[in-house]
Amino acid sequence: MGRLKGKVAIITGAAGNLGKQAAEIFLSEGAKVSLVDLDRPKLEQVQNELSDENVFIVEANVTKEEDVKNYVDQTVNKFGSVDIFFNNAGIIGEVGSIDQQSVDNFNKVLSINTMGIFLGMKHVIPVMKKQQQGSIINTSSVDGLRGSPNMAPYSASKHAVVGLTKTASLECAGNNIRVNSIHPAPVSGNMMKTVHQGQGTTQGNEEEQVEEEITKSIPLGHYADSKNIANLVLFLGSDESEFITGAEYRVDGGMGATS
Ligand SMILES: NC(=O)c1ccc[n+]([C@@H]2O[C@H](COP(=O)([O-])OP(=O)(O)OC[C@H]3O[C@@H](n4cnc5c(N)ncnc54)[C@H](O)[C@@H]3O)[C@@H](O)[C@H]2O)c1
Repeated sequence: MGRLKGKVAIITGAAGNLGKQAAEIFLSEGAKVSLVDLDRPKLEQVQNELSDENVFIVEANVTKEEDVKNYVDQTVNKFGSVDIFFNNAGIIGEVGSIDQQSVDNFNKVLSINTMGIFLGMKHVIPVMKKQQQGSIINTSSVDGLRGSPNMAPYSASKHAVVGLTKTASLECAGNNIRVNSIHPAPVSGNMMKTVHQGQGTTQGNEEEQVEEEITKSIPLGHYADSKNIANLVLFLGSDESEFITGAEYRVDGGMGATS
């Protein structure tokens, strides 16, 4: 309790699985949270479920610079600072081999998963520079550290998050702003259902078979729970990680040990 006492956090993709879980844990540790998502009805539902006066919601498309500027400005107006930025919104996009991928899908995935991360940092960093402190956690994936057949746009977009993170960490170190990336394994929830469907169709397999195969590739033998990811984000957002920046944090049930 109280590990984030007095801190203000922005969480993007907050109507989704990982964002909502992080919001819950951040609140329980004493933070005020500004929740950002494209999906207004789901965002309102999350706000109702969390039922906490320290929750503020802002509808925004992370690919639109005016929306990004607005969610940062609104958070500062409401809570006075931005101490933690969980830069997390993302999509899988269409699943299929490179020769079957459309340019539209490539652009869409890169726009949300990479440009969204860039724009978020572009507008949060000046606020953190004024404060001379802050922690940014960018969501990549295990697919940001390895090839991922049939998910080239996703994998490319998540590799790009590593470059953005490391560069930002160097640019911001002198301002006491830390920037790290997290690399989760598959997490139980809707995003993996999309992967099961897409890979199943591409490979001519049932969704259950796809899930079994993916599970076998995880040494701990099961998918992550969203709490496993949120606990890492909590650590990176808190002062307990004050000497950690520019790092790639796997939370992957041992997948990284196999390569
Ligand atoms: N779920 C997994 O297995 C897994 C594994 C590794 C990494 N990740 C990454 O974790 C992050 C969160 O994933 P999740 O499982 O919570 O997914 P999710 O689909 O449950 O949530 C993603 C949220 O992002 C929002 N979003 C999408 N496009 C947006 C946009 N343009 N502007 C604003 N919001 C937008 C969606 O509305 C949704 O609420 C993503 O970046 C994802 O790539 C997920």
